[in-house]
This record gives sequence, structure tokens and C-alpha cells, in this order.
Amino acid sequence: MFVTVFLLLVALCAHGGNGLEEEAARGAGHVSVIIVGGTGDLAKKYLWQGFFQLYLHQAGGGNTFSFYGGGLSPAEKATPLLFEILKTVSCSKDVSPERCALLKEQFLRLSQYRQLKTLEDYQEMTKQIEEQLQQEGMVEAGRLFYLSVPAFAYADIAEKINSSCRPSSGAWLRVVLEKPFGHDYRSAQVLSTQLGNSLKEEEMYRIDHYLGKQVVSKILQFRKDNQRFLEPIWNRHHIERIEIVLKETLDVKGRIPFYDQYGVIRDVLQNHLTEVMMLLTMKLPQNLSSSDEVLRNKLEMLNSLMPLGKNQAVIGQYQGYQEEVQKELNRTKDRISHTPTFAAVVAHIHEAQYEGVPILLISGKMLDERVGYARVLFKNDVFCLQNHNNVHCKPKQIVFYFGHGSLGYPSVLVSKNLFKPAGTDALWKEVTDHKDVAVLGLSVSDYNVQVPAVDKEAYAELISHIFAGRKNSFVSTEILLASWALWTPLLNSLTSIFPRIYPGGSDNGAMLDVHLNGKEIKYNSEVVIISPDEMGGASPSSYQVMKGKFRSAEMVSAWTEDLIERLAADMQGAAEAAIHQGGVFHLALSGGSTPLALFHRLALYHFSFPWRDTHVWMVDERCVPPTEQDSNFHNLHEHLLQHIKIPYYNIHPMPVQLNQRLCVEEDGGALLYEEELKKLVNGSSFHFVLLGVGYDGHTASLFPGGKLDHHGESLVALTESPTKPHQRMSLTLGAINRAHKVAVLVMGKGKHELVTQLSRTTENLLRYPVTGVNPANGSLSWYIDYDALLG
Ligand code: BG6
Repeated sequence: MFVTVFLLLVALCAHGGNGLEEEAARGAGHVSVIIVGGTGDLAKKYLWQGFFQLYLHQAGGGNTFSFYGGGLSPAEKATPLLFEILKTVSCSKDVSPERCALLKEQFLRLSQYRQLKTLEDYQEMTKQIEEQLQQEGMVEAGRLFYLSVPAFAYADIAEKINSSCRPSSGAWLRVVLEKPFGHDYRSAQVLSTQLGNSLKEEEMYRIDHYLGKQVVSKILQFRKDNQRFLEPIWNRHHIERIEIVLKETLDVKGRIPFYDQYGVIRDVLQNHLTEVMMLLTMKLPQNLSSSDEVLRNKLEMLNSLMPLGKNQAVIGQYQGYQEEVQKELNRTKDRISHTPTFAAVVAHIHEAQYEGVPILLISGKMLDERVGYARVLFKNDVFCLQNHNNVHCKPKQIVFYFGHGSLGYPSVLVSKNLFKPAGTDALWKEVTDHKDVAVLGLSVSDYNVQVPAVDKEAYAELISHIFAGRKNSFVSTEILLASWALWTPLLNSLTSIFPRIYPGGSDNGAMLDVHLNGKEIKYNSEVVIISPDEMGGASPSSYQVMKGKFRSAEMVSAWTEDLIERLAADMQGAAEAAIHQGGVFHLALSGGSTPLALFHRLALYHFSFPWRDTHVWMVDERCVPPTEQDSNFHNLHEHLLQHIKIPYYNIHPMPVQLNQRLCVEEDGGALLYEEELKKLVNGSSFHFVLLGVGYDGHTASLFPGGKLDHHGESLVALTESPTKPHQRMSLTLGAINRAHKVAVLVMGKGKHELVTQLSRTTENLLRYPVTGVNPANGSLSWYIDYDALLG
């Protein structure tokens, strides 16, 4: 049965006395490892092997271990399953068969299955751990929970861990989470908040297995080791483009219920490829082992990316996909899935160092080969008249080759016409006798090649980093949210686009080749693969921007992207007219996620927008510091202001923070804003007010049940929201209704019910505050996308 074994294997183990000291310094004692979902696929394939490897390496060090496989099934059923899995763990070649057999036997004895379903189950496990510690007189070093379960279960399990499994003070708690971490920015934020209620940031380890790949984790070290060669050329003057590519040959059969909701961008680009992009382009940290510095520099890089819109992406779907969806999801033939299984995206960094350097992120299923790499291609200004085989005439490039493909093993390749990379540490070696294959346009012999001395599996690598508490190999909450903030607008803009259908494998030919045009990306060939009839209905392009009336006011309706295009154009038209007439344009913008797509459109395409003479005001603000993600000003800054050239003194954030406190009536913030408005805006009439409308019918921060008629003549007021943060500052209906033009933007299927209700309701301030929007002398226009209008 279950016996704790002290590991006194100093004679057998790889670590000597120094190892012991290190361990002790790091927190010697007993470690309990709990894999929740311990008999699932991931655990079977990688996790138990990874933990066995950890055990192998730590054996004889200062730690003792116990391992629990947790699951929903009762122990009688799952214990044999678990032991079937445990029997398959293996040692690397450098471990003698005797030592391997001994350690494996111990590992099995230290492991057990526990049903982990109810709070009591978690409490009982804790009791067992604690009794064991006491009986054996052991000091506890920490508890490591690996949640290998669907993400919807995270919050609940985290709560149980928090309430009943925290170790006594002095010992650490680490909780490991697997993607998906949300579906978009909002859901990632909700999940982070839920987890944040139970776990501290330093206790969470979000896994991206790409960060455990040897070549990926080598990128920063390589940049540092070769700084003297790279520093002069790692910039826009020398880099032609960066390509980060993951091609796969498999389809997604068997995974459709997950995949169809996510698609390739959420599955691979938002996480794995974005991580690689950050490592390649972030400011090189002074200290590579400082998690703070590494994560800070990554975040800085993410925040300096230009917004992504539908012109920065092309998407595809392999031909057999629809049929698989119909089968696995029991769908009828006329339900067409738009989920992309292929995507090519071009990103740009808004930084002098990389300005104009395209970064391509490409991935797809059912392609011609399985290969993953990141290639930094340099400009080659050598013109060869004759001897084209001379190495100087060939591409100059550095390739971080993650594996598979023609080469077959992970490696870092530097073309010989660039430089000879600095010598490697003990973990890497140079290779000169390689098979004669071509890698991205060059024969391997045209490269200096470095490969890992010993192959290490990504999960095993990351498990050892979790044990060592190396947070820089994991995804922090801030980075996660920043990444979703980048990808969400693009994902939203693609919902109405049909992916190009491709046959799969080598038959794809040149169909998925892309062409870069400035900051945009297109398919290189215009192939029409499928007719609208075959798509089971009208194609989206058969709709035009449609005009009509909504609640007796003007309405513009279109597919999301066209609608945004139209709204941006209308806004610029209003700006130009106002400036022509009075030299200035006063624009009030609302917060929330709805206007983000508009901000991106303005930043990316409206280079002639007269920002110099535009004053940007806020419709409402949440009572949080402007540095927080929740702040409307923060979002406005991130998604618009930092990308345009607008004088600082034209920007008017709401003063929610005064006297080091937030939205306190006596501090008079609302009054201050009102005075500023009266001082600068003629007749306190904004030229253009952009509003959104919430599911509950609120607009600005005027919520149902709020005392809107108590605002009297005030233009700005402190209000209350039913959702967090509860305190808000908002323009009043009085201020909104003085505007020359008010636009209400409504988007997404989720708003269809509301749109239907609003179309039938007369003014009802208490229930639907938005019905009070009715400019006295100006005009009101509703911008409603087809999803919201037609559901
Ligand atoms: C996973 C994705 O995260 O990464 C899979 O969910 C994808 O769809 C896989 O196939 C790729 O990982 P690797 O290590 O095989 O390149």
C-alpha cells in the first residue's frame, strides 16, 4: 500500500553534496504532487512521465515526495487505470537499468489514486497529507496541484484547494493550469478574476508547452550569447521579416467539440506563436533568470503591437472539416461552421526598432508537412552576377527549428553568411556531420547548426521549472490578458468571413500562399473554391450596408466590419466638417469592449483623421486607477491614443482619482469635469458622442433603476453600476442630449434580444436608460450589426 519512502540514494543518484545544499537552500522537505485529472489523456501521455523524471532528478536531494492521481471516478475503478499508466514511465538512457528499476518501484509505491469530487474529498486528502507529515516527522516543502481538467472546472477546484488544501505557512502552494485560458478577452478576464479569488498570482502556473520546447526556451539565451553579432542587425534596417510557423498534417477528428469553438487562432496563434514572437522581439532582459524582468519585457512588447484587424489575416478551412463537424456535433448540412483550421496573420510592432518589419504567424491543420520554426530573414544587399551558389548570394537567416520537418530534430541554424554563433553551454552542442537536406531554401551545410545535447520533452522540462518556481517559463495573468486584448478584435472581425476551403496535404499547392502588401496580408491567388449556393445560403457579401429606421431614428446596419468602416468614416466626416466650421472637433467616447474595433479601425486606416484639432472626452469611467485593465481610459489609451498623433492637451480623462482616493463625492471630480467641459466645449455641446448599450439597456454609466431624472442640470454625475466596479462617473442624459450627433453602436448576436425589446419600447428610463437618448437639437444614429439586428 502507500508508504512514504525517504530517499537515501545518495550513492546512486546523479546529484552530489552540492545538489543537497542547493535543495536545502531552496526549501527541502516533503512535496505532495496532485494531478487532478490524473488518468486523463495528457496525464497519460506526458504528465506522469514528467513527474517521474522530476523524481529521478531529485532522488537523493533534500526532498521527499508523494504523488496523487485525482479524478471524479471512485478509487476502485480508477486505481488499476492509474497503475497501468504508471507502469509505462521510463528512464533516460543515462540511467542504469538497476537504478531505473529501483526508482520506478519507489515511484509506484509513492503514488496513489484519490477520488477528488467533493469538498470533503479534498479535505480528506489534506488530512492524509498532514497525518503523514506528522507520523513521519517530515517538514513540508510544498504542494503542487496540476489541473489537467477542462477549464470550466478550474474556478471550482481552485476554490476547494484554497479553502481546504493550503499547506501550513512556510510551505509553498503551486497550481498548474492548462489552456484554454478563456475564449476571448472578456472570458479570460472573468476566469482570471475567479481564479484570483482563490489563488495568488505567484501560486498560478499557466502552462504553454511551447515554452518548454528546448529551442523555444533557447531563444533568449541565444540572443544574449550572440549579442555582439545581433545587436547591430536586430532591427528594421536589417530584418526583412520574421516568420513563425507551425504546420501540421493531422486533421482535428475526435477533437471537434473543442476545436470548433476555438479554431486555429485561439488554439495555436494566441498562445504558442505569440509566445515565440515575444521571445524574438522583446527587449533582451539584463538577467534572464529574473522572472519579473522577463515577464515585464514580454508585456511591454505585446503592448507595443499594432492592433490586428481583418486585413491582417487570411483564414482557411480544410475541405473535410464540415463533414466532421456534422458528424461529431450532430449538425445538419445547412449549419456551416466558419471555424478556421488555417490562419496566416501579419503583425507589426509600433517601435522604432521594428517599424515596418512584418511578423508572420502561420499555422494550419492538414498541410503538406509537420514542422515548426521561427525564421528571422535578413535583407541581403549582395547582388551576385554569376556564382549564385556562393553562400553570399543565398538567404541570410537564423532559424529556430522546433522539430520534425526535413531536418527531423530541434536545432538553431545560423546561415554561414551571417556569423558564426558563440560557443554553447553544456546543454547544447554544435553539429557538423548532418544529413544533406534543405531547410528553408538553404542546404544544412550552409548553416552553423547547434542542437540540444540531450533531447528533453517539453512537459518534463516545464514540470522541473514548476518545481524550481521559475515563473518566467509560464504565462502571467497580465500577459494572458494582453494577448487576448490583441487577438480578440481580430477574432471578432473574422466571424463573418468565410474561410478559404483547401483540400489538404500536398494538394493545397499554392492555394495558401500569402502576399504581403504594406501592413496587410492577402492570399496570393484569387481562387474561388466554393459558390454561395454550396454554402447553404446567401454569402455575406450579398448583403450591403443597409439603411433604415430604428426607434424613429436613423439606422445603419451591416456586417460588423463594414459597419465599423462606415462608422469610422462618418466620424471622420463629422470631424472634418466641425473643424472646417469652427477649428475644433469635440468627441466623447464610451468605454467597454464594443468600441474597440472602431478604435482599431481609426488607428489603422484613418491616417488623415484630423487628430491635431480633435479633443477626446470620455462618456464614462469606472472608479479605478487609470493603470488598471478595467479603466476605460486605460483601454482608450491602449487601443487608440497610443497609436495616433494627438496633442496631450487635447485628451480629457475623467478625474476619478483625486486626493489619492476614488470617486468620493466631496472631492468634486464630476464637477471638475463639468467645468472643464463648459470651459472648452462651445455650449457644452459635443460634436460627436459615441455610445454603446449594455445587455441590460444601460448606456454610458447610466444603469436601469438609477435615479437618472435626479441629475437635473448636471452634465457629469457619479453613478452606480450593478456590476463591478460599482462606482462610475458618467455624462448625464442632459450632456448627451446636447450633442450635435450621437451614435449608438450595437454589435453581436448576444444583443439581438435587447434590440428586439428596444424596437418595441417607448421611452422607459427606469428599465432601459438608453431610451432616454434623444438629442434636443442634434441627430441620433443607431449602428447595429447584422448579428444584433437579425440574430
Ligand atoms: C496544442 C494544440 O496546444 O499544440 C494542438 O491544441 C497542436 O492543436 C499542438 O497540434 C501542437 O504542439 P506540438 O508540440 O505538436 O507542436
